[in-house]
Amino acid sequence: MNYKNIVVREEDGVATITINRPEALNALNKETLMELSSTVDKLENNKKIKVAILTGSGDKAFIAGADIKQMKDLTPLEAKEFSEIGHNLLFKIEKSRLPFIAAVNGYALGGGCEVMMACDIIIASDNALIGQPEINLGISPGFGGTQRLPRLVGKTKAKELLLTGNNLSAEDAKTIGLVNNIVESDKLLEHVGKLAHKIASKSSVQTAFIKELVNKGADIDLSNACALEISYFSSSFSTHDQKEGMNAFVEKRKPEFKGE
Ligand code: COA
Repeated sequence: MNYKNIVVREEDGVATITINRPEALNALNKETLMELSSTVDKLENNKKIKVAILTGSGDKAFIAGADIKQMKDLTPLEAKEFSEIGHNLLFKIEKSRLPFIAAVNGYALGGGCEVMMACDIIIASDNALIGQPEINLGISPGFGGTQRLPRLVGKTKAKELLLTGNNLSAEDAKTIGLVNNIVESDKLLEHVGKLAHKIASKSSVQTAFIKELVNKGADIDLSNACALEISYFSSSFSTHDQKEGMNAFVEKRKPEFKGE
């Protein structure tokens, strides 16, 4: 895959997507959003890939936000289109069969925080700074920040962050449950790689089911969400991986999942 602003590396079922605009601290312009969207589509259809890692190039930034230089002269109509492109990408990541791990290697501001929040697991480097500073630019967030942040950390904390534009250290983000874990900067990719390979060794039918159940369930009432769980649980019993997983347990051996 050849893109201008994205580098994709594939290794043993794990795809690492690196946003590569270090000169702009990996800010998201329209072209980068489109390239990311096309990358997610391609990985989605590549059955060899089981897990995706999303990170930024360099050691300073994951993503320092949407591209302010590109945004500054947008008309309201163009701003609407830009916001929709961002939202479509983040829904694509959320609805993907692939677990996405954000390796947050520095600034995750504005659009960076929003991309991070659409991922399934978030691992931050100890130098990460995370926040929604749009208020300081005279705008409100446009890629889901006002919606995903309160869903992840609660309304009160989200409003404080959105209204002040204050950034969180990695420690503070972990304390409020916005990131899963913190790793030393120079060990971030190694750590995330191990985590990704661990998840890639599981049944990919089940990693997709679990992701979908958690995401869909969070948006519907508990009894409908549990009904959904019953239906996914029962359909698991028509898969190779269920038979393999349970037989392997009884036979005291490691299961060999096929993702079917
Ligand atoms: N959009 C476009 N360009 C950006 C950018 C963004 N969101 N964030 C950083 N850049 C560019 C800078 O303009 C600069 O380019 P230049 O050298 O051509 O001037 C380059 O990246 C390096 O950034 P700089 O500000 O010099 O680095 P810094 O270490 O002093 O500060 C930040 C880093 C992240 C604190 C600062 O760049 C910043 O506040 N960025 C904007 C964050 C933001 O508001 N994001 C939300 C956008 S909706």
